[in-house]
Amino acid sequence: MQRNNRTLIDKLFETGELEKDEYVTLISNRNEDDAQYLFSLSRKLREQYYGKSVYVRGLIEFTNYCKNDCYYCGIRRSNKNAVRYRLDEDDILACCKEGYSLGFRTFVLQGGEDPYFTDEKMCRIILKIKSLYPDCAVTLSIGEKSRESYQAYFDAGADRYLLRHETADCEHYSKLHPSELSSDNRKRCLYDLKEIGYQVGTGFMVGSPYQTEENLAQDMMFIKELRPSMVGIGPFITHKDTPFYDKPSGTLELTLFMLGLIRLTLPYALIPSTTALGTIAPNGRELGLKAGANVIMPNLSPVEVRKKYMLYDNKICTGEESAQCVQCLKNRVSSTGYEIVTDRGDVVKINN
Ligand code: SAM
Ligand code: FES
Repeated sequence: MQRNNRTLIDKLFETGELEKDEYVTLISNRNEDDAQYLFSLSRKLREQYYGKSVYVRGLIEFTNYCKNDCYYCGIRRSNKNAVRYRLDEDDILACCKEGYSLGFRTFVLQGGEDPYFTDEKMCRIILKIKSLYPDCAVTLSIGEKSRESYQAYFDAGADRYLLRHETADCEHYSKLHPSELSSDNRKRCLYDLKEIGYQVGTGFMVGSPYQTEENLAQDMMFIKELRPSMVGIGPFITHKDTPFYDKPSGTLELTLFMLGLIRLTLPYALIPSTTALGTIAPNGRELGLKAGANVIMPNLSPVEVRKKYMLYDNKICTGEESAQCVQCLKNRVSSTGYEIVTDRGDVVKINN
């Protein structure tokens, strides 16, 4: 069995491709030895494309209002226990100012789907950030919009967009979301974003309720087809005030294994070692870097609002100032043999 798995890992390393059934076999039969072998190859590829550099993205969680009701998410509209907040333009610019001085050259504006932030307001904010920090990239992560809206943000200067597909399987998608949300529309958004010219990030939660190995294989096939610049994955983590309050969280072990597979599938990708990974294990983000990740996304939101952007229980880094987070991350990253760099950290050129 193990030899078979090694053969599949070698094939993925050499060709960047596996059949869906092969991913299922690999994921279903994985063991610790396979994982270590996989990570030795994923590190090799990550170093071949990006050396020892780790790119940082300053995450500004600017609103936790959301019109959607995803069953897993702590800021879903039906969660009456969530204390809602919005940052205004000046607050957001203050975060950028602090981030710039700390060496950030990418700002990620993330939020729930909040109708208060009309396209006009978003474009104003993007224009302002780009005029004050022309050497920085602006990444948006504000959910599903029309193609016209995506075009307007792009024209205002947005460079990148993060929108996890969550799960590539329509049936599984419908078990995680109410019926007004569909996998087809989420994928439509991703293709629109790509066509417009954004560097696009997608991804999924590992260990989300009802997920099978077959679903994970479908996620890998979808990623291969979309060829995004960025892929963000993290474990599903239970939130006590959601319909999935009694569902178990995903594991560190499977998340790391999937991370390694993503690096072999898309060697050029920018892959974050996520806060969720750091939440399920104290050294989760370090292990993510050792499994092939090359990005970290420290929180730049004002400390007063951080605990309110609670997507899942026990989220880390909600009490520290940004400067403290950066220092802590520098130490963590250097303990892995990698180093944080001050750089926009664009994706290396790829063939589309
Ligand atoms: N509203 C935007 C969107 O839908 O893309 C951005 C914000 S959304 C909260 C960001 C990501 O958080 C989602 O794509 C989802 O994968 C992740 N997330 C939400 N709830 C989670 C949970 N309970 N555990 C782990 N990740 C979660
Ligand atoms: Fe806000 Fe899912 S609950 S996008």
